Amino acid sequence: AAAEKGGYEHFMLKEIHEQPDSLANAIRGRLDFDLGSAVLSGMGTSPRELAEISRVVLIGCGTSLHAGLVGEYAFEDLADIHAEVQQAAEFRYRNPIIANRDLVVAISQSGETADTLAAVREAIQKGAFVMSLCNVVGSTIARETGRGVYLHAGPEISVASTKAFTCQVAVLLMMALKLGRGRRFSREDGYKLAREIESIPELVARVITQDARIARIAEDYAKNEHAFFIGRGPMYPVALEGALKLKEISYIHAEGYHAAELKHGPIALLEQGTPIIALAVDIPGKDKTLGNVEECRARGARILGIVTEGDHETAECMDDYITIPRCHPLVATIPAVVALQLFSYHVARIRGCEIDQPRNLAKSVTVE
Ligand code: G6P
Repeated sequence: AAAEKGGYEHFMLKEIHEQPDSLANAIRGRLDFDLGSAVLSGMGTSPRELAEISRVVLIGCGTSLHAGLVGEYAFEDLADIHAEVQQAAEFRYRNPIIANRDLVVAISQSGETADTLAAVREAIQKGAFVMSLCNVVGSTIARETGRGVYLHAGPEISVASTKAFTCQVAVLLMMALKLGRGRRFSREDGYKLAREIESIPELVARVITQDARIARIAEDYAKNEHAFFIGRGPMYPVALEGALKLKEISYIHAEGYHAAELKHGPIALLEQGTPIIALAVDIPGKDKTLGNVEECRARGARILGIVTEGDHETAECMDDYITIPRCHPLVATIPAVVALQLFSYHVARIRGCEIDQPRNLAKSVTVE
């Protein structure tokens, strides 16, 4: 088992560190710089079908649902297509409105999650155009959808998902790029975004070089029993995913909140030293998030910021900070989540938790 972990103490840490490679695998051969677009042949769509798609519905559970939330921002912002995320378990029972020009994208690392599979069957029955984003080749969801894009993240052993999430987001960005060309995107803009996507492995590698520093920061947060993660725009799903990661592996009660919603409830819970993890990356909305950070600080919270490299002014508003490289706001979700994965990992390690096999959790939930 030690050899399987490649010298790492846990599979989770190994998988976090593997991300530059898994992302390179997910992206390789899928960008077309001449066209300023992405080549995703598994989508099996003709240019006409692509042009006809009028809505994208993303479905998944857990971490895959959070990737879908980033996808929602990406499809609307980059491709100008109405997009929405639905929890797979809800999708099936709410009698969803599905038209035949709707594209339903099922997101599942394992390709076996019962709720997601049931939603896929429902969508197919309703005549939607259904495809999947799976990591496990030949899995049930991949087979039943018949089309989609594999993540190529490599086997993910740790129950808490890391590299599958970042590869899901990378593939969703490429899908949005492909759909965006011919809609909102000129060739030049497509080219620029393709170059940004190509650089994702390098952006992530730069976050991972801060591993030892993040481990030191984690020392100061490991004794708390509560934590709040806040963000806006594409950093809102990152806040949700950061909180999920921390609660899954460290058993700290963590909540992800839209920064603006803080005032509508959670702020009542802040006490001296309550940790606030603020996604304060330098993208539109940052100033508003910094305003929320100040409100938390005034109530005694301790603030860990995820900030953009070189943004010293923002870093100075924080008690502690981790940097990510400057990049496109949607691309930034990937390095930002990697920073939070490392933070959660180290907090859980310091607390002596069973990181790869947290109590009560399963890698794949095959019952509804
Ligand atoms: C379980 C796992 C999570 C995962 C979720 C969805 O809850 O513990 O890590 O995100 O299932 O799994 P899927 O394989 O469909 O992505």
